[in-house]
Amino acid sequence: MKRIGVLTSGGDAPGMNAAIRAVVRGAISEGMEVYGIQRGYEGLINGEINQMDVSSVADIIQRGGTILRTARSERFLQQEGFKRALDMIENFGLEGLVVIGGDGSLRGGCDLTKAGVPVMGLPGTIDNDLAYTDFTIGFDTSVNTVLSAISNIRDTSSSHERTTVVEVMGRNCGDIALYAGLAGGAETILIPEIDVDISSVCKKIITGKNRGKVHSIIIRAEGVKMSSQELAQVLEDRTGLETKIVVLGYIQRGGSPTARDRMLASQVGYRAVKLLHEDSSSRAIGISGNQIVDYDLQEALNMKRLPETSMIRLAEILS
Ligand code: F6P
Repeated sequence: MKRIGVLTSGGDAPGMNAAIRAVVRGAISEGMEVYGIQRGYEGLINGEINQMDVSSVADIIQRGGTILRTARSERFLQQEGFKRALDMIENFGLEGLVVIGGDGSLRGGCDLTKAGVPVMGLPGTIDNDLAYTDFTIGFDTSVNTVLSAISNIRDTSSSHERTTVVEVMGRNCGDIALYAGLAGGAETILIPEIDVDISSVCKKIITGKNRGKVHSIIIRAEGVKMSSQELAQVLEDRTGLETKIVVLGYIQRGGSPTARDRMLASQVGYRAVKLLHEDSSSRAIGISGNQIVDYDLQEALNMKRLPETSMIRLAEILS
């Protein structure tokens, strides 16, 4: 393979730039030309495609976001948009693509695969919701951002003797809540994988109150059915303690990537390029047991995620 394209798609994640850098510099070191596609599949359809060189990716490893920009493309899901994307791949002579994104983005890569385009999928999402990889690019940074927020919130919650519901992202996956909650010593962690037992949440707060503890941090993953408002109201009514809500929102998606995210991004990015250089068929690249792994793209996306029961249990024991 001589000429490849790279794009970032879906929600941005810290470490995407480190992945782009690895793909661009890795490809050039293997003697390939590499083209950056702006705004994900949307830019592919529009032909927003430019050749990149080693200096195009200078000074970006430490930056959050994505220099290629990103989008959630509706047009790519329609027949006409998809056809235009294929035409652009042909017009620019791209023999393979590296797609950096979450589940939806990699599924878009599967569609291209079926149309004959080899695609290497890199797991770029803060959600950590891809079953084939232990970790996704951006997850570690996001967890650390949430952790730092929890520490700040704890200061004010304890001063005012309040309960605080902290809502975190993650779509239908509770990993951001679980990891940040466990590391931040949250009193309760609510994740979509497990039904909320509101009585036991209240009981825990009341037990704490009876032994003089008057502040609690409740981490609620956004995918949990009971809304933060509903939850806060029930907690306040049943425990008699003032309850506030903090929705952390997009701060979880920004910021300079952690060393862990930069390492993962660099390693999977380089593996993607090596595979394309060897004319491999489409693969999803990730990390398992601290080893960089790759699987058939479609098979990887068919894998099912199991809830991290031991981690959930540990969080319960320690809180
Ligand atoms: O997938 C990343 C993510 O931040 C999710 O955690 C969240 O549900 C979603 O994206 C928000 O999407 P948008 O950027 O479209 O608001």
